[in-house]
Amino acid sequence: MTEKKNVKKPDNAQGTSAMWGGRFSAGPSAVMEAINASIGFDQKLYAQDIQGSKAHAQMLADQGIISGDDAAAIIKGLDDIKSEIESGSFEFKAALEDIHMNVESRLRELIGDAAGRLHTARSRNDQVATDLKLWVRDALDGMDRDIKALQKALIDQAEKHAASVMPGFTHMQTAQPVTLGHHLLAYVEMLGRDRSRVKDARARMNESPLGAAALAGTSFPIDREKTAKALGFDRPAANSLDAVSDRDFAMEYMSAASIAAVHLSRLAEEIVLWCSDQFGYVRLSDEFSTGSSIMPQKRNPDAAELVRAKAGRVIGMLNALMIVMKGLPMTYGKDMQDDKEPVFEVADTMALSLAAMTGMIEGAVFNAARMKADAGKGFSTATDLADWLVRTLAMPFRDAHHVTGALVKMAEQKGCGLEDLSLDDMRSIEKGITEDVFGVLGVDNSVASRRSFGGTAPENVARQVQDARARWL
Ligand code: ARG
Repeated sequence: MTEKKNVKKPDNAQGTSAMWGGRFSAGPSAVMEAINASIGFDQKLYAQDIQGSKAHAQMLADQGIISGDDAAAIIKGLDDIKSEIESGSFEFKAALEDIHMNVESRLRELIGDAAGRLHTARSRNDQVATDLKLWVRDALDGMDRDIKALQKALIDQAEKHAASVMPGFTHMQTAQPVTLGHHLLAYVEMLGRDRSRVKDARARMNESPLGAAALAGTSFPIDREKTAKALGFDRPAANSLDAVSDRDFAMEYMSAASIAAVHLSRLAEEIVLWCSDQFGYVRLSDEFSTGSSIMPQKRNPDAAELVRAKAGRVIGMLNALMIVMKGLPMTYGKDMQDDKEPVFEVADTMALSLAAMTGMIEGAVFNAARMKADAGKGFSTATDLADWLVRTLAMPFRDAHHVTGALVKMAEQKGCGLEDLSLDDMRSIEKGITEDVFGVLGVDNSVASRRSFGGTAPENVARQVQDARARWL
């Protein structure tokens, strides 16, 4: 979880809150303060909070709700606070609970009474929803960029290996030969869907909560269109109750991230398998391998194992927020303060996982000879033989399947591959077979023949590489 750094203990332990303490005669207990304060993590929202406040102050002045001078002082003060935070001189205080009150309290120190006018026609409820939305919007854009970088690494490798033959698997058993380029482009498709989910989520969430106030809207003549526009939203959210209590955007972000993390974990698992001596299909660069402290010969794919693991963390964070939101009555509840750490955790985890995966793919060296040798094992061209019987002898596929099964059995008994059987051997099972059959039995022939749309033939892969570049990069 996010580190609680730079947070000073309260200096007004027996005092009441300057922000809401009017009706209280004693301050909160230390435990109350500890469970209530979010500043340890929501300080990450400082830039969005200041951006939202500046837009709000300007709109209040434009509408004649506060004076132009007050708005100018507020905006200048907010800019100064941003500089203080970025230079590290800003003192975050747990007694001030969250980023919103820390900023507003400092604004009062800097500009005096005018600071008190900033919170007119606004509540922390619409404020925090706005801040987090702005943050998640950036996180979606960041995830899109990072996924795109991984797609590029995969497409580059696919281009190099458009014609490299490897075993294709179903049930983790050798099924039919495929090309490595085709296999890598499968992940480019998955990641493309991840990016389209990001795009959908971004379009759906881009409505401004600001001006919904506590829950019911406000009696001041505000202009929500104006603040929405200033913050890059497409429009104001239509219903004030929904605006302050909606966290769909955070759940959608983490849902999209979870599915992408599942994709990364599948690729990670293949890297782990392929790095083993038993497979020997790929060697990761030194930059993305680790050694063992006891076994000097080891090269471990730790980064791939960790990417595989991190999907659990991302899915866990999505679960955490869904369970927080489940059954919450309208509208805002403090439960919702617990929306932030999951979102931040997902953003950090996805950025790291995607960077690690991109690095691994960029530097990966595939052992094409080893893959090709494996591709021919396990009678992987049996389907090609059956298809040949259908095509050449006009046999029904079910009969061809049966004949091929008998040939596989014979090869198995002789301990050889299908292509090593003699023509006489084959004819003893099916008289119609001719010399021509050997043309479909090698793995190169097999993949070259699979030219159907979306199929694995090298000429298809070369074309799909070009298409993928145009679609995704
Ligand atoms: N820190 C709070 C949160 O993250 C801000 C909103 C507080 N609103 C309130 N009515 N207490 O949700």
